[in-house]
Amino acid sequence: MSWIREGELTIIERFCANIIKAGPMPKHVAFIMDGNRRYAQKCHVERQQGHSQGFDKLAQTLRWCLNLGIREVTVYAFSIENFKRSKEEVDGLMDLARQKFSRLLEEQCFLNVCFAYTSRHEISNAVREMAWGVEQGLLEPSDVSESLLDKCLYTNNSPDPDLLIRTSGEVRLSDFLLWQTSHSCLVFQSVLWPEYTFWNLCEAILRFQMNYNALQKARDSYMEERRRQQMERDQAYVTKKLQQEGCSPRGAHGDSRRRRTLLQKCTAMREERIQGFLQALEHKRADFFERLCTVSA
Ligand code: IPE
Ligand code: IPE
Ligand code: MG
Repeated sequence: MSWIREGELTIIERFCANIIKAGPMPKHVAFIMDGNRRYAQKCHVERQQGHSQGFDKLAQTLRWCLNLGIREVTVYAFSIENFKRSKEEVDGLMDLARQKFSRLLEEQCFLNVCFAYTSRHEISNAVREMAWGVEQGLLEPSDVSESLLDKCLYTNNSPDPDLLIRTSGEVRLSDFLLWQTSHSCLVFQSVLWPEYTFWNLCEAILRFQMNYNALQKARDSYMEERRRQQMERDQAYVTKKLQQEGCSPRGAHGDSRRRRTLLQKCTAMREERIQGFLQALEHKRADFFERLCTVSA
């Protein structure tokens, strides 16, 4: 039987879900599932039991998300820093992850799991990949941009989260999706993760809805600025080329036609380089995973 699909919402939950769905809904929600150990302590159960209930809460939360029409969920399940916990706790978490995620991922296509993850590691890795691209002659140094960095992140296939929720009352991101959440609605809730309820999720969505216009405006103006900066870089490149050719940078009629042609050519060539680089990167990553699987087999 499906772990996520089993169990429907109650009538009152369905009623409220329909009201909330009348407003703008987040398409992608990220969770920092925090507070398992405090929950275990509070309930006088073993720490591993707290973690186990945390995993079960994820299955339940995914069902609520599905019912609310949220199409993508990303969770912070284990940070690189978490390896510093006792061996017993780390081993216990690994066992749970193996058992529970294999079951969840079997039936899910909208769940991204960040495991042994930190955002700074992800960003510095993306920067290293771009440096590799330049070194290999696949990229020009001027191709390095925010939009290319986006494409080098592990999350390149997902849109940025609209809403990020952290439970347990902690008001920090603990190195989670730092790049991707600059225009997301951040909601910090005091409930411990294993005690998370449908109503907590509704409250977070309502906060997203209350801030929707401001979030949208910030995102749009950022995208506009990014386009403007790219255009400025392309214009500077073309001006330099024209000067090398001895044309007037102010642009007599013939020169301005030449400028337009060069600009189009420069954009097309950049796009071609970037596509080539991204393909090479995909092969490089596939090789890495293949080697990793061979070593661990
Ligand atoms: C989150 O709960 C789960 C993981 C980090 C793996 P914690 O284990 O951090 O529990 P608290 O925050 O100490 O209560
Ligand atoms: C962050 O929680 C990581 C996860 C929830 C998986 P932590 O509880 O480990 O974070 P800090 O150490 O309190 O910042
Ligand atoms: Mg914690």
